[in-house]
Amino acid sequence: MRPALIIGNWKMNGCKQSIECLLSDLINESASNFPELVLCSPFIYLQWVREFLVERGSLVKLGAQNVSEYTDGAYTGEVSATMLSDVGCQYVLVGHSERRKLFKEIDQQVFLKARRLIEAAIVPVVCVGETRDERDKGLTEVVLARQLEPFFARGQDGLLSGCVIAYEPVWAIGTGCSARPEQAQNTHSFIRQYLVANLGQGASDVRIVYGGSVRPDNADSLFAMPDIDGALVGGASLNGQEFLSIAKASLSYNA
Ligand code: PGA
Repeated sequence: MRPALIIGNWKMNGCKQSIECLLSDLINESASNFPELVLCSPFIYLQWVREFLVERGSLVKLGAQNVSEYTDGAYTGEVSATMLSDVGCQYVLVGHSERRKLFKEIDQQVFLKARRLIEAAIVPVVCVGETRDERDKGLTEVVLARQLEPFFARGQDGLLSGCVIAYEPVWAIGTGCSARPEQAQNTHSFIRQYLVANLGQGASDVRIVYGGSVRPDNADSLFAMPDIDGALVGGASLNGQEFLSIAKASLSYNA
């Protein structure tokens, strides 16, 4: 049983006023039988979003978009996993393709970040995915295996069983051109088999969510796929109605 998980990634968008409108919409309309909903806010608004959610008795959970790979100390500008835990984060994205590409994050760093989060009792959402060029060259599986490899180094056994995996083909992010449901399913199924081969049967409980231009009009067909356990939503999470309609679509397919 893998309950659906819908994560909104606001990226570096919004201001207090727009976030307040968005949260009010979400809280007024999200029903108690909704799937698990997580909002990944910019760091600066985390505490405030948390207070907003708690004050209104909302079940929506708090997430962040990044974390430091270090525990504490002289790392100017960084935010640690324990700080994120302190302000109530339950999920944190690591290895988003924008961080890999624009901020040159490498696989080993992504792994260290995930480890810090697990130590702080936060669920890492480990983002993986290939570029268009890598897909065209038939390298999708090689790239995904390489991105996940540090998690299977000696002594790290089992770390991934405490994570969520987000499969996000880089070519589908922010382009309006999502992977086709069967295409996404094939890749999710590869990731599932790869996890089972390395983690054993515990891997069947790991949630693998899809990200990359998920919208109300394609969510239903994506969630119909057996290995798609939810979504990581960028653009459409900035619109309360769209985000909620994606969340509603997942209800019929709660695996
Ligand atoms: P998108 O972004 O939904 O706007 O494609 C997804 C993401 O980057 O997580």
